[in-house]
Amino acid sequence: MPQVTPRFSVLSEDFSADPYRHFAQLRERAPVHYEPVIDSYFLSRHEDVKRVLTDHEAFTTETLQVRAEPVMRGPVLAQMTGAEHTAKRGIVVRAFTGQALQDQVRAIHANAEEIMAPFLARGRMDLVNDFGKPFAVNVTLDVLGLDRRDARRVAAWHSGVAEFITSLDLTPERRRHCLECAEQLEAYLLPVIEDRRHHPGEDLISKLCTAEFDGIAMSNRDVTALIINVLAAATEPADKTLGLLFKHLIDHPGQLAEVREDPELLTAAIAETLRYTPPVQLIPRQAEEDTVFAGATVPAGATVFCVIGAANRDPAAFHAPDAFDIHRPDLGTARSFTAAAQHLSFGSGLHQCVGAAFARAEIETVAAMLLPRLDRVRFSPGFRYREAGLYTRGPVSLSLDFTPVR
Ligand code: HEM
Repeated sequence: MPQVTPRFSVLSEDFSADPYRHFAQLRERAPVHYEPVIDSYFLSRHEDVKRVLTDHEAFTTETLQVRAEPVMRGPVLAQMTGAEHTAKRGIVVRAFTGQALQDQVRAIHANAEEIMAPFLARGRMDLVNDFGKPFAVNVTLDVLGLDRRDARRVAAWHSGVAEFITSLDLTPERRRHCLECAEQLEAYLLPVIEDRRHHPGEDLISKLCTAEFDGIAMSNRDVTALIINVLAAATEPADKTLGLLFKHLIDHPGQLAEVREDPELLTAAIAETLRYTPPVQLIPRQAEEDTVFAGATVPAGATVFCVIGAANRDPAAFHAPDAFDIHRPDLGTARSFTAAAQHLSFGSGLHQCVGAAFARAEIETVAAMLLPRLDRVRFSPGFRYREAGLYTRGPVSLSLDFTPVR
């Protein structure tokens, strides 16, 4: 089995223009693809990716020490293991599930209403830039308990943090810029953390400040890292998923009509969007021992990237994987936002996304608000669809025309 296909590179412009065109070749001809420039392995088969994400002894999150910690200003959830991981993950999970989730749906509704209102009357909206991005940032600020008037500043710092985590080859200048963003974000958060320690409210920052681990409150560094962790993890994939959902539905008018007719189908449409075009395309791990996949060895110490988009389109896991089909029987919609999900868009195993239920509620709520208001929705004249990103990937913009709402 060839380990490297000559001339093929996941770092090429050709690949980043449309990775989906290359996934079959990657799975079939180079399931263990080595990228010498960044000294990393890329695994693309569903079975292999699942194994990497769930074998926590052989594949650890050590790599995040260099990939994330410098901009998170401390260790993130995904780096932790054992009792510490269970306890701190539990605090975050409680803020995003159960009654807390019900309360947040109201905030999601109010945020969405406010941001979409001016565009509805115009009959044109860029779903990504006019709506999705500000919406996802505002919702996350609300959950954290940060002032929405700071949204612009926080979004700018957040984009530096995200660039650091998701770039495979950062220049020294960009690296400096990203670290500056992280430092400014940290400086902004510290007085807020101090304040919540003395005057806690119902928000996630207050819960992090008042929670104890082994009888000891978390340090400012721990709380800062978890806040930046949630900020980075929650915003980007949510706005990308919303844009991708509408792109696929407009491309498949029959399925769009069905979802309009029966909004219950939205859950399946969102799950299928996540499978078909996962917004988080790469998940990194470090191999702790030599491991053989498809006849090729990944050596101990190597950085491994799970190629989620390719795994989700593996014919060994899904029938006709390159078709967008909200009725596909092999997806298991009900399981798609749980640990038993068949697609790998939320990861798998110990570090599977803590925000899956929240993301579902968030996207379902806004999509259900948008669909009846976007009558005769279509791409704006002259609009050219483009996606960007290797690590996280989504539409650059999505300019939509529809009947103006009076
Ligand atoms: C459609 C939306 C989302 C997608 C596709 C997504 C995807 C992912 C993936 C792939 C991971 C696993 C990373 C790994 O294994 O290293 C992850 C972890 C995580 N996600 Fe999400 N996410 C989404 C929304 C959210 C939201 C709304 C939150 C808000 C809390 C969130 C918070 C987190 C956190 C804190 C982790 C780390 C969990 C841990 O390591 O224990 N995500 N997410």
